[in-house]
Parts: sequence; C-alpha cells; structure tokens
Amino acid sequence: MTINILIVGAGAIGAFYASRLAQVPDVQVSVICRSNYKAVSSNGFSVTSPKYGSYTFTPDRTFANPKEAVAANITWDYILVSTKALPDVSDDSEILNGLMRDGHTAVVLVQNGLGVEDPYVKRFPSATILSAVTITSAAQTSPGVIKHNRWTRISIGPYLPGSTGATGKNEKEEKAINCNKKFVELLKAGGIADAEEYSHAKLQMVRWHKIAINASMNPSAVLSGGSTNNEMATDSELYWHLKGIMDEVLDTAPKVLGTPLPKEFATPEAILKSTQKNTSGSKPSMLLDWEKGSKMELEVILGNPIRIAREHGIEMPRLQTLYALLRKADENREQAKQGKSKL
Ligand SMILES: NC(=O)c1ccc[n+]([C@@H]2O[C@H](COP(=O)([O-])OP(=O)(O)OC[C@H]3O[C@@H](n4cnc5c(N)ncnc54)[C@H](OP(=O)(O)O)[C@@H]3O)[C@@H](O)[C@H]2O)c1
Repeated sequence: MTINILIVGAGAIGAFYASRLAQVPDVQVSVICRSNYKAVSSNGFSVTSPKYGSYTFTPDRTFANPKEAVAANITWDYILVSTKALPDVSDDSEILNGLMRDGHTAVVLVQNGLGVEDPYVKRFPSATILSAVTITSAAQTSPGVIKHNRWTRISIGPYLPGSTGATGKNEKEEKAINCNKKFVELLKAGGIADAEEYSHAKLQMVRWHKIAINASMNPSAVLSGGSTNNEMATDSELYWHLKGIMDEVLDTAPKVLGTPLPKEFATPEAILKSTQKNTSGSKPSMLLDWEKGSKMELEVILGNPIRIAREHGIEMPRLQTLYALLRKADENREQAKQGKSKL
C-alpha cells in the first residue's frame, strides 16, 4: 500500500530528507512550497551530496500553499515539518489545519530546539507526534537547489510527555512507538543508515544535548561579529566561553529531565576538539540567518531552555546573558529596518 508523506517546510533539511524518502518503493512524497514554488514546480529539487551523488527529486505533488494541499484531499500518513521553528513569528502548526486525518496522520517534527512540539500537541491533542533531531548539514543555495554538505544522522522518538516508559503502555503510546519505528525504517530504506529510533525520554536528552552545541555556537557566532565555529573553538577566550555554556546546559539537563545523560553523548571537550579540527569554515545557522537579515531561532534554542529550567527552579545565567543581548540586538535591527534607528 502506498505511503503518503507531505513535507511542510521544503527547504534544506525538509527537501533533503524528502529526497531520500522518495527513493523507497511505495512511498510518495509531496511538498508544500513557499518562495521556491516556481522553481520546484518547474524542475523539482536538484540535490548534490557527497554521499548520494547528484540527483533530481521530483515530488509526487508540489503545492503552492497549504490551501492547495487541503483541496487535494489526500490521506497523509506522515506530515514532516521542517520549517525554522520561530514561535515568536508564526505558529506553523496552523498550516496542518485540514490536512490531519484524526487517528491516522502522524506529525514528524524535524527542527532544532526545545519545546517545538508544544504548538502541535495543543492543536492536535490526539495526534501521534514524532520528535526528531538531525545533525545533517545542508543548505538551499538557490530555490530548489539543495546542497547536502555532510552527516545524515537523524534521531527520532515518539513525543509522549508523561509516559513512564515502563510496561503497560496505553494504546496511544503503542501506536506512537510503532509509527516511530516504521518511520525510522523508511528513512533507512531511503539510505539514511544512521536514522536512530529512540524512546520519548532519550530523544528529549538528545534535544538537550544538541542545545549544548546550538546555544553555545549559534549566538556566540553572531555576538562575536561573525565568527565561524572553528574560529571560536580555536580562540583562547571563546573556547572557555563555549565550554562554560555547554557545561551549563549539560548540568541543567539531568536536573530538568530527572535522569543523567547517557555516557556515550559527546562531552564539551570532545565537541570542541572536533570543532577545532573542522576547518571547513562552517557557520552556525543563526549567523547565516543574521547575515541574511532573517529571524533567528532564538526562542527554541535560548528562550525555551531558560524558561523550562526556571520552571524547575534553575537559572541558566550564561544562556540568559546571550538571550538578553541577542534578543535586543534583533529588536534593534528590526526597528532600524523600519526606519526607527536610534543611531
Ligand atoms: N540546515 C541545516 O544544516 C540544519 C541542520 C540541523 C538542523 N536544522 C534545523 O532544521 C530546521 C529547518 O532548517 P533548514 O535549514 O532546513 O531551514 P530552511 O532551509 O530555511 O527551510 C525552511 C523551509 O520552510 C519553508 N517555510 C517556512 N514557513 C512556511 C510556510 N508557512 N509555508 C510553507 N513553507 C514554509 C521556507 O520557505 P521560505 O524559503 O519561503 O521561507 C523554507 O523553504 C530548523 O529547525 C533548523 O534549525 C537545520
């Protein structure tokens, strides 16, 4: 039987994973486009990858907007969301209105940050939600042109807050776990050998661990005036600054989650050592967004971890400093754009 997958947020990450899922027999992958609609509807996506070579991915259907997708009246098995998570700008769960089949469609969130699941749980309380973290590096270099740079790993778990993970799972939990397993199998069949199946609890640990990297590298790259990851990790003062943030996040995570992080997760020293060796000149996404004048994922990478920690009586002073400074810098920049510059 055909499996229908819809991609919401067909940019770098969404189109890359879509192009892999589309390789699987009996899987049909469609996309809702926005600014890349004209290019994708004419030529599909052109993908280049050091692992998979160069190929064209033509979606089964290419929609110009969510309304067109609703009108197509398709029963989606999975809706993969890979927009930038910008809850301060838009509630993207709204896009899924009219696309979800109750008791059938599962939402797969492939986004960085913490708390990205909340708007989807609120809007679709009975839906199966899968939460995914990827370390893949990819970019949409021009509309419909996807450059996969390196890595493919994606970690996915069913989002089941409140679940004990113990025996005696209820029907909803069983369904979400099976759906998660199936989606990981599809990714593997599409050539993503390191698609990893996680429990709810462990996936949230992965999210916190990725925050250690994102919350240190991303804002520091912007606030230091445009540094690459490597430049920061090899700078004598910034090294200790980055390590301090990573330590703060990794000390906070077990207190919030109520369980230690797995020993196999990379330590701040190991992350920084590998960043020192990586001389490819890669810049964190927040810096790329800042340079483009686009909104940065400030709330899910900095604001939410700070707020979640506070709910547990914990302050994160290093993160709070970065958040306060960058949020204000962003606000000042927005005002300058609107001609309200204080300069
Ligand atoms: N890129 C990476 O290497 C990487 C690595 C790990 C994790 N991530 C995470 O993955 C997520 C996606 O990042 P990305 O780099 O793939 O971002 P991206 O290239 O900017 O792609 C996001 C896509 O979503 C589309 N979109 C946004 N709102 C939409 C709407 N209302 N309707 C239809 N389309 C909409 C955008 O369209 P427009 O172009 O019109 O705005 C864009 O095509 C983020 O959470 C990011 O942090 C990215």
